Amino acid sequence: MTIQIEFIADDGQRRTVEAVEGKSVMWAAVENGVEGILADCGGCMTCATCHVIVPEDWRERLPPPTSDEDAMLDMTAAPREPGSRLSCQLVVTPQLHGLTLKLPPTQY
Ligand code: FES
Repeated sequence: MTIQIEFIADDGQRRTVEAVEGKSVMWAAVENGVEGILADCGGCMTCATCHVIVPEDWRERLPPPTSDEDAMLDMTAAPREPGSRLSCQLVVTPQLHGLTLKLPPTQY
């Protein structure tokens, strides 16, 4: 089954990509050239440049952040928002098909 995830840039540009089950949402963005996800650390959770904002109606459907992710979310370049997550920590599952993520105005 195809799992599609949409990214909305700060300027409103939308990009839908195909995500691979078992990989992270961050990889889906990077492998498809989505601008606005830097992922400098490659998913080691040390950079916070894979920051995304999950819309309210999706927040309950995602596993909550671990305490490590929660701590790193305080290091994002753009201010943390209620739906802020690190996309390298979101594992793609078929349930994520149709997920729309906002990108923050900056990652650095
Ligand atoms: S890619 Fe570095 S924290 Fe997610």
